[in-house]
Amino acid sequence: MSRVAIVGGAGRVGVSFAFDLLKEGICHELVLIDILEDPVQGERLDLMHSTSCLSNTRVIAGTDPKLLAGADIVVIPAGARRKADQSRLDLVRTNFSIVDKWMQTLNEVNPDAIVLIVVNPVDTLTYRAFLMGSKNRQKVFGLGNVMDTVRFRSIIAEKYGWDPRQVDAYLLGEHGDTMVPIWSQANYAGMLLDNINCTDRETLDAAYVETRKAGSEVIRLKGGAGWAVGVSCTEVVRSIILDEKRVLCVSSVPDGSYGIEGNVSLSLPTIVGRNGIEGYLDVKLADEELEGLKRSADALRANYAEIG
Ligand SMILES: NC(=O)c1ccc[n+]([C@@H]2O[C@H](COP(=O)([O-])OP(=O)(O)OC[C@H]3O[C@@H](n4cnc5c(N)ncnc54)[C@H](O)[C@@H]3O)[C@@H](O)[C@H]2O)c1
Repeated sequence: MSRVAIVGGAGRVGVSFAFDLLKEGICHELVLIDILEDPVQGERLDLMHSTSCLSNTRVIAGTDPKLLAGADIVVIPAGARRKADQSRLDLVRTNFSIVDKWMQTLNEVNPDAIVLIVVNPVDTLTYRAFLMGSKNRQKVFGLGNVMDTVRFRSIIAEKYGWDPRQVDAYLLGEHGDTMVPIWSQANYAGMLLDNINCTDRETLDAAYVETRKAGSEVIRLKGGAGWAVGVSCTEVVRSIILDEKRVLCVSSVPDGSYGIEGNVSLSLPTIVGRNGIEGYLDVKLADEELEGLKRSADALRANYAEIG
């Protein structure tokens, strides 16, 4: 039996994820929670109507925080959109208070749930959620660079005409400007990119830059990401429900792995299973990649100090 709750379930990210999760057919109850009653009930109806083609999942919706009780996994993409006269910092502070409120609710109604933070800035808010919640690094973590990695692989594949499902390349560190491409391990069909004759540095660097700018470009064109972030949330949630122990670059408060101590949350190669975070894959990275990770950690600590 698995019950997954989405806080912000009437939003673009929440709905894209909900639909993808129903397609997987791996959860028994899906709970959509939002502050907007009519939109969340509308999404519930639309998703419930599709279950006869997708899966035997009970879809529940509402605005009552008590709906979080009994959820095994709580995914939080709830966030405010920037108003015309609002600064970036004000928006971040609003999202801080949203995360604070939902973590307090979880402490009361469901302190043992696994929590996946999606709302941006995801690393900073994951660290906040960790502090506000159980301070359990295994159970409170964020989507981090899972979506960026999903995008990175698709973009590399498109440039070379490859099957995107066979590209294996990671982006670690911050979900933001200092994200670190792990070229030392990047491969296609198990072959290191460096050893594949048709690859070239210029195209690969362009793929990295395109990935870094992809979020803003999608916002410019259609208002925000939906499908790619939806499938990224599913990757994480499926690994938990099915205890797949996949290596995913979720954002978490590190335990000293890769030389990075607490008071920050960032993406490392992380093993995700039934208990949430079950460890980090210890990989020998290139010196510049390790330095990049430290730069990301410093940038994120500075961001938190500015806002927290
Ligand atoms: N981490 C990632 O990789 C990633 C990727 C894409 C988007 N995001 C982030 O996800 C967030 C959501 O994006 P979106 O496009 O779905 O936005 P959206 O505006 O479409 O949806 C947000 C939803 O949250 C709800 N909401 C607002 N305040 C709430 C509260 N206090 N409690 C419950 N629900 C509340 C809104 O009513 C709305 O339905 C944004 O912060 C966005 O930047 C993160």
